[in-house]
Amino acid sequence: MKSAEIRQKFLQFFESKQHQVVASSPLVPGNDPTLMFTVAGMVQFKDCFLGHEKRSYTRAVTSQRCLRAGGKHNDLENVGYTARHHTFFEMLGNFSFGDYFKRDAITYAWEFLTGSQWLALPKEKLLVTVYASDDEAFDIWNKEVGIPVDRIIRIGDNKGAPYASDNFWTMGDTGPCGPCTEIFYDHGPSIAGGPPGSPDEDGDRFIEIWNNVFMQFNRDESGTLHPLPKPSVDTGMGLERLSAVLQHVHSNYEIDLFVALLKAAARETGLPYSQSEPSLKVIADHIRACAFLITDGVLPSNEGRGYVLRRIIRRAVRHGYKLGQHGLFFHKLVPDLVREMGDAYPELKEAEARVMAALKAEEEQFAKTLENGMQVLEEALAGEVRTLPGQVVFKLYDTYGFPIDMTADICRERNVEVDLDGFEREMEAQRERGRAGSSFKVAGQVDYDGEATCFEGYVKSSADARVLALYKGTEPVSELHAGEEGLVVLDNTPFYAESGGQVGDLGEISTLGGVGALFDVLDTQKVQASVFGHRGRLRQGSLKVGDEVQATIDLHRRLATTRNHSATHLLHAALREVLGSHVAQKGSLVNHERTRFDFAHGQAVTDDEIVRIEAVVNHVIAANYPVTATVMSFDDALKTGAMALFGEKYGDEVRVLKMGEFSTELCGGTHVSRTGDIGFFKIVSEGGVAAGIRRLEAVTGEGALKFVQQQEQQLRDAAALLRSPTAELPQRIGQLQDSMKALEKELGRLKDKLAAAQGGDLAGQAVLVAGVPVLSVEVEGADAATLRNLLDQLKSKLGKSVIVLGSREGGQVALVAGVSDDLTGQLKAGELVNHVAQQVGGKGGGRPDMARAGGSEPDKLPEALASVAAWVAAKLA
Ligand code: ALA
Repeated sequence: MKSAEIRQKFLQFFESKQHQVVASSPLVPGNDPTLMFTVAGMVQFKDCFLGHEKRSYTRAVTSQRCLRAGGKHNDLENVGYTARHHTFFEMLGNFSFGDYFKRDAITYAWEFLTGSQWLALPKEKLLVTVYASDDEAFDIWNKEVGIPVDRIIRIGDNKGAPYASDNFWTMGDTGPCGPCTEIFYDHGPSIAGGPPGSPDEDGDRFIEIWNNVFMQFNRDESGTLHPLPKPSVDTGMGLERLSAVLQHVHSNYEIDLFVALLKAAARETGLPYSQSEPSLKVIADHIRACAFLITDGVLPSNEGRGYVLRRIIRRAVRHGYKLGQHGLFFHKLVPDLVREMGDAYPELKEAEARVMAALKAEEEQFAKTLENGMQVLEEALAGEVRTLPGQVVFKLYDTYGFPIDMTADICRERNVEVDLDGFEREMEAQRERGRAGSSFKVAGQVDYDGEATCFEGYVKSSADARVLALYKGTEPVSELHAGEEGLVVLDNTPFYAESGGQVGDLGEISTLGGVGALFDVLDTQKVQASVFGHRGRLRQGSLKVGDEVQATIDLHRRLATTRNHSATHLLHAALREVLGSHVAQKGSLVNHERTRFDFAHGQAVTDDEIVRIEAVVNHVIAANYPVTATVMSFDDALKTGAMALFGEKYGDEVRVLKMGEFSTELCGGTHVSRTGDIGFFKIVSEGGVAAGIRRLEAVTGEGALKFVQQQEQQLRDAAALLRSPTAELPQRIGQLQDSMKALEKELGRLKDKLAAAQGGDLAGQAVLVAGVPVLSVEVEGADAATLRNLLDQLKSKLGKSVIVLGSREGGQVALVAGVSDDLTGQLKAGELVNHVAQQVGGKGGGRPDMARAGGSEPDKLPEALASVAAWVAAKLA
């Protein structure tokens, strides 16, 4: 049975059991910025299990694309060397959100695996495990399904702590969890390995194919399990493993999906197709991970998800290099992948060109350093080396772009250890150099080791504070005097310091009472992670360290910035809805005037899409959803699915910002309290900033009103000029264009007529040179086309002749030359016109009987025309 058919059957089976078929979510989790990648089918339903989100269905089924590379769930190192490890894989799963529980989960699984119209696996090849104390599951398997007791294995807490068991599944240290029952397939006695729970369970004979988790408890920080009000079900079955069983092969790489990709990898590396070459398996695995990551909006970069992608691409390229392919090849596998998986994942098909271009660009970039890096590595590995020194690992990483795992991969092939501690020391030394360098490189950086600033600006626009430190430039001072510029550090402040794309606040700091000091704050920047620097100028009085002050932000400006910031989150979510889930933020800048948002997308956003994006955002604004910010420990933020993390650095505490159910992002910025506060959202520009990255600019609230009013004023001005109601402007402009075209035509005809009239007179100005009439004159007001018509007339009038006509218009010279056919043996029109053109700063050429030219020095035209007779005389002599 083909993989595509298995996938289809699974969805169909659960659809027939009233499950909603839900599309795979992207590899980048949409509603959870704390996760690096989607590592299981349940990720997109996390909030449903927790009861935070209600959907219109309580049963769902998916075929979910998953990635386990980088972060906690990482299989990258094993890929290519085992029969069953992948970076990218598909997880088939059925889910119940407080609907059915153990009985149905178990009987559905059994029916699908063994039912004659479904997979019809032989029952005697299957065995199951249950959590040791889960008598209920045991009894269902035994009494209702009919599995003999010797094929039901109880697994206790075999991982060294209560509830730490292969058969007790948790999303993380805290959160929903429960016992699970796993179904195993016996590949037969010819393969080594024992049943689960036995000492040699890690062998390949008994393979787990399906995990059914009974989400039954919520685990708190102390480890206590509280029963969930509505027990749920979360299951996961690896499609590749199941295909191997149904296609009677032992390795996942032998299934239909992979055979096609292995063949493509062999073709592109010039190798014969082989099942046993690990490098081909690595390439076949990695093309899936890379293509889907790019489809889902990730681009190679040096941090976070982008760096995981870069590592996987470079690893694949290196394996190609190892097989002797030193050219670009990896991107050429994309069409093969689209052929295999494009029907099940239309978004992949759509992104094909974008994926190829991004892979090719990364291959090109890496090709520049791979060869040299390999030389450095080969030299370091020559001889009896047992450990690769940290300095070499660092040099390869820093200078040649070799990811550490790639270097480790090569060393493993040669049985050489890698000195990772040495590498870390080199990295730390580099960070030190960076820090040391920055104190004089970065303008305005000051030395400060006092108290931190408490930020009160989420709730206050004005606060009482004490001056902790003062600086003139970067020099610490004890006092600032009127007229001086400086930097003020306070113990607490309502001023937001620039970060996360939002600009710093402006406002004023004043002393209380007396002839007060007044300091205008022109910008707020972080001096250190939690020390805020207010930069500006002391307008009056003097300000001393220790002074009690009042710090007040420019609230009007801040509110405008806040509206733009909240709108940025809505825009981000709306872009994913309208353009697709590949849209990922690449940068943003939010100030009081506008928001600027850069994101991954392969082509320009069309006018129609902009209209739809604006509609979605304004709809959410009108719905007036509450905006909530919850500060929680990083671990708490993870508790709903403690998996891999962003590569970006967050502190111990993170702030999770939710706007209704529409948007969830980690954000430290200031935000409106309800979406309705944004008022009105309008996109004002669209453009590209780099390959695959677009930029939108938008305005909100009063800014949007101002924008619309300006547009309207421009329309009114245009309408006044055209004496037309604004609604009729397009029609009026159309009419004007038509009449302009008619006038141009008319003008052309008049010019020709004029030229024709001049033609008669001009013929009379010809002079005889060696018996041949030679005419060389300027025609006023003629353009190139008119000159050409006139030339034809004069030629037929003069017969045997040489003619040069010139005109001057708008700083340019137009020239045309004609030689009658009977003279072209002696002189050529092309040479003649060139002779004249050179004298007026131009060049030209053409046929022997007719040629044209232009020039840029009109003042020299009379003299140039005067030289014609002599030139002709010389030719005819
Ligand atoms: N979420 C469960 C797993 O990943 C089904 O195994």
